[in-house]
Amino acid sequence: MVDGADADGWSQVAQGWAELWGSFADPARRAIIEAAAIGPGTRVLDAGCGSGEFLDLLAERGAVAVGADPAPAMVALAREASAGTGADVVLADIENLPFADAAFDVATAVNALQFAEDTTAAVRELARVVRPGGIVAVSNWAEAALNDIDVVEAAIAEARDDEPYPDGPLRPAGGIEAALAAGGVQVVDSRVVDVPWFAPDEVTLVRGILLGEDADVVTSLHAVIVAAAAPFRDGRGGYVLRNSFRWAIARV
Ligand SMILES: C[S@@+](CC[C@H](N)C(=O)[O-])C[C@H]1O[C@@H](n2cnc3c(N)ncnc32)[C@H](O)[C@@H]1O
Repeated sequence: MVDGADADGWSQVAQGWAELWGSFADPARRAIIEAAAIGPGTRVLDAGCGSGEFLDLLAERGAVAVGADPAPAMVALAREASAGTGADVVLADIENLPFADAAFDVATAVNALQFAEDTTAAVRELARVVRPGGIVAVSNWAEAALNDIDVVEAAIAEARDDEPYPDGPLRPAGGIEAALAAGGVQVVDSRVVDVPWFAPDEVTLVRGILLGEDADVVTSLHAVIVAAAAPFRDGRGGYVLRNSFRWAIARV
């Protein structure tokens, strides 16, 4: 998987991301749409929009959606995917948004805030572009204990003689809320939502989990991943990994 705030790395995996992971966060996106009361005419910025799937969901609700992402290939895919919806997509990172103060009613970051170099500065920037009384919404992976994928990641780490990947401050209960509060916005709701990930076969399973890794790494870890994911077989040759995202919304 791509590591950190590496726009080139994200560009290299953009196509694979869109294909294998693009819609996976939809339950979190839908929860944010409901919690933030997004509807016809709501002006929404999705920062770290990736391949643009949230922009489509927003457009379906009649919102005026804008995407921002620092990876050029992600921006290209998001523009392609949302071409029919009128959504604008710009090349920008979350800490430096090229928008006027109070330009949006809602700003979101789904599975993206963790890549900001300075989380507090990023939240402040999201809040800057939202009108007073508007909403900043953030969603991220929940802690490892709630995710089947982390069982597989732990097996990979063991096979590589690495320490398991640490959870990071946004993942545990209260992590997103603390980041929002540090950025000066007032948390009004937060929940956990199931975000299952489906792989139709073991090749897709391995490809999805090792997105961005070299072919030799994929080959060498194939058996490790298939063995670790055995409890998650769906009985039809595929795998369902039950994972969770946390989300929180805050008022500006
Ligand atoms: C895990 S993907 C998630 C994409 C999308 N939000 C989704 O839920 O499918 C992370 C995205 O964050 C973007 N990203 C990386 N660093 C960023 C930053 N500093 N600001 C905004 N986005 C960033 C990447 O280019 C990538 O598109």
